[in-house]
Amino acid sequence: MIELIEKLTFISGNKHKFSEIQSYFKEAKLSIKLENQDFKMIEPQVDSIESVADYKLNSIKEKIDGSYFIEDAGFFIDELRGFPGVYSAYVNRTIGNQGILRLMRNVKNRASRFVSIIALHIQDNPETFIFKGTVNGKVANEIKGNLGFGFDPIFIPNENPDYTFAEISTKKKNLISHRSRAVHNLIEFIK
Ligand code: IMP
Repeated sequence: MIELIEKLTFISGNKHKFSEIQSYFKEAKLSIKLENQDFKMIEPQVDSIESVADYKLNSIKEKIDGSYFIEDAGFFIDELRGFPGVYSAYVNRTIGNQGILRLMRNVKNRASRFVSIIALHIQDNPETFIFKGTVNGKVANEIKGNLGFGFDPIFIPNENPDYTFAEISTKKKNLISHRSRAVHNLIEFIK
């Protein structure tokens, strides 16, 4: 039996993600109070972002009061067998978008996707609830646009095939983004 959630904490140091998630909650007119708390968590070396999110969520169970959730995302390129995937943050910091384009030079199959996983812990409930959102697209041939963050300048979503994520407004990106879809699934569950 799941108790009514009155307050929910988003565990993340990423203010950009928090304000994005806050706006989805506002749109959904939920009566839940959404808070943000930063908490340094260890990134485990595992093969899927579901496992990363599950591990991180459980690693802080004893340290956080109430109900809370985390969000973890990754960029997956088919021709590179899912790389950078769980290593997305590290790869973005190191070789960056130029490095990915170098790896993809002369590669015909440019199919790729962003995946977002939300892991939710409800107070006094031993279960971990997982919500997923995906956006499919292609790796661009060149860096384009200066909006957004991370791999946005080299990702062209199939639903908006003339522009990279970094060339469209946040509002437009939010309509189709992996994160908005994962949050939407979380909101439907809460409702
Ligand atoms: P995180 O661990 O959830 O912050 O995501 C891992 C990495 O994936 C980030 O450091 C970004 O490089 C990339 N990433 C996640 N979401 C997005 C997005 O919406 N646009 C571009 N890159 C993203």
